[in-house]
Amino acid sequence: MTERRRVFSGAQPTGEPHIGNLIGALNNWVAMQDDYDTVYCVVDLHAMTVPYVPSELEKERRQLAKMVLSVGVDPSRSLFYYQSDVPQHVELAWVLTTLAGVGQLERMTQYKEKSDRTGQSFGLLAYPVLMAADILVHKAHAVPVGDDQTQHLELTRDLAERFNSRYGELFPIPERITPEIGARVMSLTEPTSKMSKSDPSPRSRILLTDDDDQIVAKVRAAVTDTGAEVAYDWTAKPGISNLLEIYSFFTGRPIPDLIAEHRDGGYGAFKEAVAQAVAEGIRPIRKAYEALSDEEVAQVMSVGAERGRELAEGTMMTVREAVGLS
Ligand code: TYM
Repeated sequence: MTERRRVFSGAQPTGEPHIGNLIGALNNWVAMQDDYDTVYCVVDLHAMTVPYVPSELEKERRQLAKMVLSVGVDPSRSLFYYQSDVPQHVELAWVLTTLAGVGQLERMTQYKEKSDRTGQSFGLLAYPVLMAADILVHKAHAVPVGDDQTQHLELTRDLAERFNSRYGELFPIPERITPEIGARVMSLTEPTSKMSKSDPSPRSRILLTDDDDQIVAKVRAAVTDTGAEVAYDWTAKPGISNLLEIYSFFTGRPIPDLIAEHRDGGYGAFKEAVAQAVAEGIRPIRKAYEALSDEEVAQVMSVGAERGRELAEGTMMTVREAVGLS
């Protein structure tokens, strides 16, 4: 039997997960379980790089883990754990910091945005190096993420190449996997910005825990564009184009079909159809989430942590040897 290729991805427990996370990344986490050896993490150490309240982090970690399981990550097929339970991530991150250029880190868009908002810290600057370590400690070949992680993935590839050329070929160069549609789901209130957990407006995003009424209200209130024709045109109609991508994801139907059906029916009827599709798609996720107990989640995460440490230690033994620490 040939060995399956390895996948790694992570999500931060800061704020509640929304349909952007689902469409851009989590859906691929689930789908890739069929063909890859999959490893996923709730990256709690990353969540510490912006100011936070410890009791909130404790809760959000657990809630995100529960949500990842509710969307269909199956612990019998995927390794799933809290990043902080596997200290090898941090050990490898240190090794990689010695290969990372400060200038390159300072140019990261997310660093600039977040440091403008919350202030500079060394943790925030080093954030993408820890992310590279997450991926490389599992020697991942592929990383399912949304569009906003492109630069971080480029850095990961650079660091892997630098390590390999300095210390010997150890790491595969990981490939970024993004969905064709929905790699960048936009805000419902400001469709030229991405849908984000940190947006102060709760109406800008649909949460994976929202009930039918909340979903319908948010889609109805979504900012649309001038004119009345339903068309897929990101320049002239970003609001409608965003809703079309969301609609396509939740129905599995191609955008041209959806346009053919709704072109001249008016925005109101179109939004109702989108809202119904989203509500139907979210319902089973919400139900699964409500059915899972905190104890079940804790059990999964503890088993995952143990296996995670074993696997990551395997990589670290070869890394320590390669860099002269054994
Ligand atoms: P995070 O927690 O911000 O988001 C989790 C995943 O959701 C994707 N995403 C989106 N996709 C489409 N449209 C959106 N509006 C949208 N918003 C978020 C993100 O691209 C991500 O895939 N740095 C990462 C976490 C991380 C990680 C890793 C990812 C840490 N280590 C190693 C992959 C591999 C982050 O902040 O994701």
